[in-house]
Amino acid sequence: MGTGSRAYEEDEMKVLVTGAGGRLGREVLPRLIEDGLTVRATSRRPRTDPVVEWVVTDLATGAGLTEAVAGVDAVLHLASAADQGRRAYQVDVLGTRRLVVAAGKNGVRHLVYVSIVGVDRVPFSYYRHKLAAEQVVAAGPVPWSVLRATQFPEFLEELLTTMSRLGPTIADRAVLAQPVDPGEVAARLAARLVAGPLRGIEEYGGPEVLRVDEAARAWRAARRSRRPLLPVWVPGKLGRALRAGGLVTEALPRGTRTWADHLADTYGGTDRR
Ligand SMILES: NC(=O)c1ccc[n+]([C@@H]2O[C@H](COP(=O)([O-])OP(=O)(O)OC[C@H]3O[C@@H](n4cnc5c(N)ncnc54)[C@H](OP(=O)(O)O)[C@@H]3O)[C@@H](O)[C@H]2O)c1
Repeated sequence: MGTGSRAYEEDEMKVLVTGAGGRLGREVLPRLIEDGLTVRATSRRPRTDPVVEWVVTDLATGAGLTEAVAGVDAVLHLASAADQGRRAYQVDVLGTRRLVVAAGKNGVRHLVYVSIVGVDRVPFSYYRHKLAAEQVVAAGPVPWSVLRATQFPEFLEELLTTMSRLGPTIADRAVLAQPVDPGEVAARLAARLVAGPLRGIEEYGGPEVLRVDEAARAWRAARRSRRPLLPVWVPGKLGRALRAGGLVTEALPRGTRTWADHLADTYGGTDRR
């Protein structure tokens, strides 16, 4: 094992990845393994794998956390209850605190937390929890890094699908988004893990900032859909933050895979009729 906070030697490093079965986790695991790291992964359900050691943990209760952090050099904390409504506070804030405490007691030397660009600017309740979790990480005993990523294209698609439930796509055209490929976020996280604690926050976004109407037009064309866009105006502080670029970042470097690349992969090429 190395000493202090210097960058790790990759082949010495054992990493715990929380939420490893999620969208980002599925990109992170093969990347870390390819980089020669030894990986332990958490899920709330038992899983088996020839390469990865899976352990059962639940951040909402703390079950399994002590065993999960035992003997690891670093933690990559991806687990989150984004789609679990009120449980987000239990899992993201209190669960992150449980993880940080357990990691501190076990001498973990680096904890990397994945957050979202805009958690400090956009008044979504989930973002308040993510911001609070960042603060828990920064105040904890384990040397830390936070990587704030912009939205994954799958998430933007889910939003567009939700906004299209009633027929037309009901959207505020001027909201800005900057989708980033989760595979590229995984690569950035792997690099940060190996580089050692930043004791700060870095941001990482996709290659282009899109207005929602541009994103919706390309999405509709890729799906050969003639669904019209019905413009609305998101009111109040939330709308102002979303239109002012609260979800986007100028940070460099950026990912390279575009929204059009994602649509082409998913739907087999865009058709901009
Ligand atoms: N989606 C985006 O656009 C986006 C953008 C930027 C940053 N992020 C951040 O990136 C991280 C990963 O996002 P994702 O899209 O991969 O999320 P995801 O697909 O929803 O995966 C989250 C994982 O968290 C785990 N989890 C949920 N409740 C838990 C609990 N009580 N205890 C332990 N684990 C629990 C789940 O694992 P099991 O079901 O296997 O237990 C799940 O696999 C999150 O922190 C998110 O905020 C997401």
